[in-house]
Amino acid sequence: MNVSWNCIDKHLESSADKTAIIFEGEQGDTRHISYQQLHDDVCQFANGLKARGVSKGDRVIIYMPMTPEAVIAMQACARIGAIHSVVFGGFSADSLRDRIEDASAVMLITADGGHRGGKIVELKSAADKALSSGCESIKDVVVLKRSGHEIDMKDGRDHWWHDVIEGQATSCEPEWVDSEHPLFLLYTSGSTGKPKGIQHSSAGYLLNAVVTNLWVFDLQDDDIFWCTADVGWITGHTYVAYGPLAAGTTTVIYEGGPVTPDAGRFWKICEDHKVSVFYTAPTAIRALMKFGDEFPNKYDLSSIRLLGTVGEPINPEAWMWYHSVIGKERCPIVDTWWQTETGANMIAPIPGVTATKPGSCTRALPGIEADVVNEDGDSITEANKGGYLVIRKPWPSMLRTIWGDDQRYVDTYFPKFDGRFYLAGDSARKDADGYFWIMGRIDDVVNISGHRLGTMEVESALVAHDRVVEAAVVSRPHEVKGEAIVAFVICKGERPVQDEAESMVKELREWVGEQIGPIAKPDDIRFADGLPKTRSGKIMRRLLRTIARGEEITQDTSTLENEAVVLQLQGKE
Ligand code: WT7
Repeated sequence: MNVSWNCIDKHLESSADKTAIIFEGEQGDTRHISYQQLHDDVCQFANGLKARGVSKGDRVIIYMPMTPEAVIAMQACARIGAIHSVVFGGFSADSLRDRIEDASAVMLITADGGHRGGKIVELKSAADKALSSGCESIKDVVVLKRSGHEIDMKDGRDHWWHDVIEGQATSCEPEWVDSEHPLFLLYTSGSTGKPKGIQHSSAGYLLNAVVTNLWVFDLQDDDIFWCTADVGWITGHTYVAYGPLAAGTTTVIYEGGPVTPDAGRFWKICEDHKVSVFYTAPTAIRALMKFGDEFPNKYDLSSIRLLGTVGEPINPEAWMWYHSVIGKERCPIVDTWWQTETGANMIAPIPGVTATKPGSCTRALPGIEADVVNEDGDSITEANKGGYLVIRKPWPSMLRTIWGDDQRYVDTYFPKFDGRFYLAGDSARKDADGYFWIMGRIDDVVNISGHRLGTMEVESALVAHDRVVEAAVVSRPHEVKGEAIVAFVICKGERPVQDEAESMVKELREWVGEQIGPIAKPDDIRFADGLPKTRSGKIMRRLLRTIARGEEITQDTSTLENEAVVLQLQGKE
């Protein structure tokens, strides 16, 4: 099979002229790309990749703005059997380098820059920085001209996208691959300091991508589907780049930020392009809700018939606003639980079939055996009693392994229950109707604006700074982002106080932004002479969480090795 054939060629006989992609740039430029045009563009670029020596099984990194070319690049890789790994454009040069090196990628596809929040995202200069600090496996860099500003091009290594496709044929026989051939790697955070390359298959991945687009989003021939996720996340793979196309839908791609030029942008796009199915994250809903009803009320949202959410549990206030102000109380809301690892929606309602309850992702989709079990792996039958969320049987789009590290795959997802179940890493409960309610992560993973980050990743970034000796990172609830990062830091020499502490906080925030990306910048950094540890030397994370939330300490701190630091961390000394 070939994934690109299934997303594009399959539709050419019946709907070559149907719009596959509606694109809107942040500055208002728009483009409609038909299935035929998409076919031609993907083929040309695929031929261009082949001409540069990329072949089946090679890894290709995609570090691009949200433009149709990002999807074209992904589809072109799929067409020739190359394995792509998209790196979110908001990740730093260092994060990009780590992913290139872990995947031993031969090519990097990027752009001069993209438009976001009224600014230019300097993708090429970040790429140059990544490549200058390693990445020996990279032979070629392909650069899309998007922002049009001045950038450096390195002779022999860097090639403009338009030169790469110059003179290439608009047809390209797909590389027929085994159903298990890896389609892509996508790096995500876990409990350790190093992100892991989640490896997905071709046929199984695409199967769940298609059926969930059809079942959960109920896609009909005349639907206009807009999933606001960036292709740098799994949601942008399954519900932008692959699933909707495989289902033959028209899908919207928007390049920019949600409040540019103002908080009505999403709703204006819905009106202008007659979006009928809209899928976004609770954090975006909360952020836009804060600007008030007048923004959505300025636009005609009558084309919308179905709403979806993903990424974290949706709080009742945000659900109500989404339901009444956006959905005008007539659109069902599908709350979809899934993960980078699961490839597609796992626990989610089927509109018209499953009655919804605000805050619950409802029931597992057909073929998915989700359950909540206790420490012994026994199914919890008592209503509303929390436990481990597990999947009892493999499903087509489950991850196949962690790239280059089969043992870490086994250790991470099958550490309990004699390896009988897939351990999702979430805690959950089931109510008396058998509906699932996700309660949060059980590992050291935090969810910032629907993006997953390992607390150890942020800790490693902090201790990589010259002045930092030790760091502990926890999260606290945040009104818009869901969770925010709080870092407790021990510095070399005297503990920074007052002005010095203030400038040190600034410096460390920037530092973490450079090491990982802006989303990982701690909201709050506190300094002390030591961290609260038990006599056996374990950091008391529960106590740190209490301090981070400003709650009253109820834990017994008298057994602490160094009780005084608690006052320092609370800012009382
Ligand atoms: C984690 C996976 C899947 C795309 C977005 C995130 C949390 C995801 C929900 C939901 C409650 C949710 C879980 C999960 N999560 N969807 N509908 N309700 N929690 O993908 O970065 O792989 O993160 O996001 O904690 O484990 P991801």
